[in-house]
Amino acid sequence: MTAPTALRVAGKRAFVTGAAGGLGAATGRMLARHGASVFLTDVDETAVRVVADDINHEHGRQVAWSVAQDVRDEERWKTLLAEAASAMGGLSVLVNNAGVGSLGTTEQIELTEWRRVMAVNVESILLGCKYALPYLRANQPASIINISSLAAFKVDPDYTAYNTSKAAVAMLSKSVAIDCARQKIDVRCNSVHPAFIRTGIVAPFFAALGEEEATRKLVRGIPLRRLGEPDDVAYAVLYLASDESRYVTAAEMLVDGGACAV
Ligand SMILES: NC(=O)c1ccc[n+]([C@@H]2O[C@H](COP(=O)([O-])OP(=O)(O)OC[C@H]3O[C@@H](n4cnc5c(N)ncnc54)[C@H](O)[C@@H]3O)[C@@H](O)[C@H]2O)c1
Repeated sequence: MTAPTALRVAGKRAFVTGAAGGLGAATGRMLARHGASVFLTDVDETAVRVVADDINHEHGRQVAWSVAQDVRDEERWKTLLAEAASAMGGLSVLVNNAGVGSLGTTEQIELTEWRRVMAVNVESILLGCKYALPYLRANQPASIINISSLAAFKVDPDYTAYNTSKAAVAMLSKSVAIDCARQKIDVRCNSVHPAFIRTGIVAPFFAALGEEEATRKLVRGIPLRRLGEPDDVAYAVLYLASDESRYVTAAEMLVDGGACAV
């Protein structure tokens, strides 16, 4: 990582879900490095605390907080958003990043699994947006960033529920963006669509196929011929969280090495 040349989100106060590892942790670190306070949550309380401790150590003062959150829990959203606003002195960025993968074709998938995927990947984003909006409205300009996937646009064979959930995230994000625009509030909402990044969510695929074969398969459809890095996504989130993107709302930002174009 090169040292940042400017504090692009100085003074922003961000809530990031699924921040115990992978893209959420990279996003938390990136936003903090560029001057934001970050409130990090995850079901894995121990791991998310390590990320927050690391960030605070790097900065020599408290800029990160961590708490346990299951994003499916509606009441917990209300409690934690209030806690985050109180700890950081407001809330101006929400990154809905927590998500789960799910293997299964249309005929294989059980309804309980379908509902689990929809609850974590889609419903949680509705809850986050719904209950964060009063705080974001009070801290304009504000930004919501929802982590979707390339799978919103290109079918990932064997992943019926995941594909569907990520497509729903794109349209949910646009709906939130237009709601805000119609209210004439400066709260933007966009979705980010990564291709394959080496994180926990793709670990089962690597475990099943082995390093070489898994990489070969994943890279096959990517014009840039490599997997993405967590920071590739974190930089996209940084841009969308910052006021540099003040005219960008209801957009689908691909971070996919060109995969969607072929
Ligand atoms: N890695 C990729 O290739 C890739 C590609 C496209 C999109 N994404 C999306 O990026 C996001 C982040 O995933 P990642 O790649 O960092 O994987 P990851 O598995 O490392 O991170 C996901 C995090 O979400 C947390 N989580 C799972 N269920 C939760 C719940 N109910 N409540 C709160 N937290 C929960 C997990 O504990 C984990 O820390 C996901 O939404 C994923 O769908 C990832």
